Amino acid sequence: MKWTVFLAAGLLVATRSQASAQPAPAPLTDEQVKAKVEALLGQMTLEEKVGQLTQIAGGLFPGAKPEEALRKGGAGSVLWLNDTKEFNRLQRVAVEESRLRIPVLYGLDVIHGYRTIFPIPLALAASWDPAVHERAAAVAATEARAAGIHWTFAPMVDIARDARWGRIAEGAGEDPYLGAAMAEAQVRGFQGPYLGAPGRLLACAKHFAAYGAAEGGRDYDPVYVPEGRLRNVYFPPFHAAVEARVGSVMSAYMDLNDVPAAGNRWLLHDVLREDWGFGGFVVSDAMAIGNLVIQNFARDGKDAAYRALSAGLNMDMASNTYPQYLPGLVGEGRISKAQIDEAVRPILAVKFRLGLFEHPYADESRVQAVLSDPGHRQESRLAAQRSMVLLRNENRALPLPKTVSRLAVIGPLADSPEDTEGSWMVFGHVPAAVTVLQGIRAKLPGATVEYAKGPDIRRDIPSMFDGFMPGPKKPPQTPDQAEAAFQKAVETARGADVVVMVLGELAHMSGEAASRASLDLPGRQEELLKAVVALGKSVVLVLVNGRPLSVNWAAEHVGAILEAWQPGTEGGNAVADVLFGDANPGGKLPVTFPRSGAHGPLYYARTLTHQPEGSPMYRSRYWDGPTTPLYPFGYGLSYTTFAFSNLRLAAPQVKVEGSVGVSVDLENTGAVAGDEVVQLYVHQRAGSDSRPMRELKGFRRVSLEPGGKQTVTFYLGPDELRYWSTLQRKWVQEAEAFDVWVGADSTAKLHADLAVVP
Ligand code: BGC
Repeated sequence: MKWTVFLAAGLLVATRSQASAQPAPAPLTDEQVKAKVEALLGQMTLEEKVGQLTQIAGGLFPGAKPEEALRKGGAGSVLWLNDTKEFNRLQRVAVEESRLRIPVLYGLDVIHGYRTIFPIPLALAASWDPAVHERAAAVAATEARAAGIHWTFAPMVDIARDARWGRIAEGAGEDPYLGAAMAEAQVRGFQGPYLGAPGRLLACAKHFAAYGAAEGGRDYDPVYVPEGRLRNVYFPPFHAAVEARVGSVMSAYMDLNDVPAAGNRWLLHDVLREDWGFGGFVVSDAMAIGNLVIQNFARDGKDAAYRALSAGLNMDMASNTYPQYLPGLVGEGRISKAQIDEAVRPILAVKFRLGLFEHPYADESRVQAVLSDPGHRQESRLAAQRSMVLLRNENRALPLPKTVSRLAVIGPLADSPEDTEGSWMVFGHVPAAVTVLQGIRAKLPGATVEYAKGPDIRRDIPSMFDGFMPGPKKPPQTPDQAEAAFQKAVETARGADVVVMVLGELAHMSGEAASRASLDLPGRQEELLKAVVALGKSVVLVLVNGRPLSVNWAAEHVGAILEAWQPGTEGGNAVADVLFGDANPGGKLPVTFPRSGAHGPLYYARTLTHQPEGSPMYRSRYWDGPTTPLYPFGYGLSYTTFAFSNLRLAAPQVKVEGSVGVSVDLENTGAVAGDEVVQLYVHQRAGSDSRPMRELKGFRRVSLEPGGKQTVTFYLGPDELRYWSTLQRKWVQEAEAFDVWVGADSTAKLHADLAVVP
């Protein structure tokens, strides 16, 4: 473990110094930016201004013709292009052939890595270590910026409390406090110390807002979330991103309380600009302005352009609605020139801050060196180690001894690079992940490691993204082929001393347009698991997946379960590190694991009502099974054990607006070094509104040697103790009694009382 910590420190230095080797112009002051923007704006025609409000599809999109638009100043930004030479060629058109030579801004979904792929964001959140997420974003930025990309459509900071929603993979899970910490870390990682820092990207907090609350977990479906819950739960990660000075925000697709996010002035103007002081620009989600018509909100395209711009939406992503209709709307006097200028200003400001006018081109000679930096892969491996969550470890089944001589690695995800990388690996990306099979073989060069894939898994209904997915497209297996693969897998397991089953979901079973009604292992995977466990071997289950899975049977019958998520380029090596004890898992679930998809949404921070579950009168909300989670939020085991003790408050009372220290002692009581995530939860016992039974208000990941002790102190003040009251329609901090718990997950028992007094 020491080794990894040391390595991490070394890499941090290495990558930072590389970034600082690039030219580092001093950041422009606000006044300088303003002067430049106004000078340029003063020269622009209406069409050129509308051009800056327009983002068009690049060459990866069928029928895209960016060149013509750029030459006439008709597009400020291009997305869905990923080719350095082409970036430079088109940039030359914008900078040398258009009238005002305004550089084009290239945007792409660089979500969890560019060439070096990191674990999916949900996994990075499971590290409960914002520094890990920050480094992942910084490496992604370094690579993508070198390749010619300026802007990433990340971080996705949508709170997701329904595991059926496929995009849960892209965010930090269910909790606003953890989500806000991860949002801030990613903005810092992508953008660096300031917008325009060398080797970094413009970040985009998306999808504003509450996209993750899609009814039934069905992607794109409407959302009904009252204002109190928006402000207390769904907004905090966005607010944290704005506080971290994120340069752009993307509006969501769906209707929020019957008003589409792309036409929602309350959201885009009142909350974002007036309440939070956001100074960047808002981009729509892809085609979303045009979609206002499909959503039965706008009458036609013209009405859609009118309503989106009036709501405060700056840039039209790929629906071509702004360029088609805004000039006419201005001609008719329905949209004023001042409104157009207002919309254009923050886009130009971002271009100036990014230094695009001075450095519009990517340095083609540098790209390969940056993309193949071995330090990036090491960071990815470390991030994957730190993201894994040990869900079960009966009789210390893990770590496995390195002396094991006959091992079988079984499952459809054991040797699939694209599924090891996870969703969003599109736009010409070639998967290059080390698979779990490869990682284990590299770890045990002297052992016999047999592999059998078992039956294929497939999405039942194809995805609109299938065409973009890398990797060979194979015809479906026949039932006979699947049966033969099943039997072969069982036979392979029979010949081994230890079996590692690698099961879960294909990359495109989570992510966009990838909701599932069931959270069970898809296909025949559980059947195969049962058949292998029936052999009486020592079996370890490694889960490779993008969302919580209801692995109820495995949770009772398989000795060890390691949640590896979709762990990225170095995923297989990191899994092998953990399985064989070179790294000790210390990740924790950033999201509740329900027992069934039908239980969604399920999350820990609920309010209590009449007959709480578990009471003698009413043991479960469902008559056909427990409502409790399979694994609670914050949960995760280690190869060592920890003891919490001596929870104490600096004072039993604190005044409203005051702050009080909460301390706890943590000891590593086991035999190996390891990490524990100390988690602080509070509960307000009475108030203007009913308050959740618990809310996370502090966490810290701590590394301790065997026998090592540490005191961890948190502070509870107004930021932690206030909330937006539905009854009072404002933020309140109330003089009431609170419960405080500290421990290893959201069921922590160590308790103290706190009184907030006037
Ligand atoms: C997604 C966004 C993404 C955009 C651009 C949309 O379909 O919802 O998250 O950034 O496409 O690729």
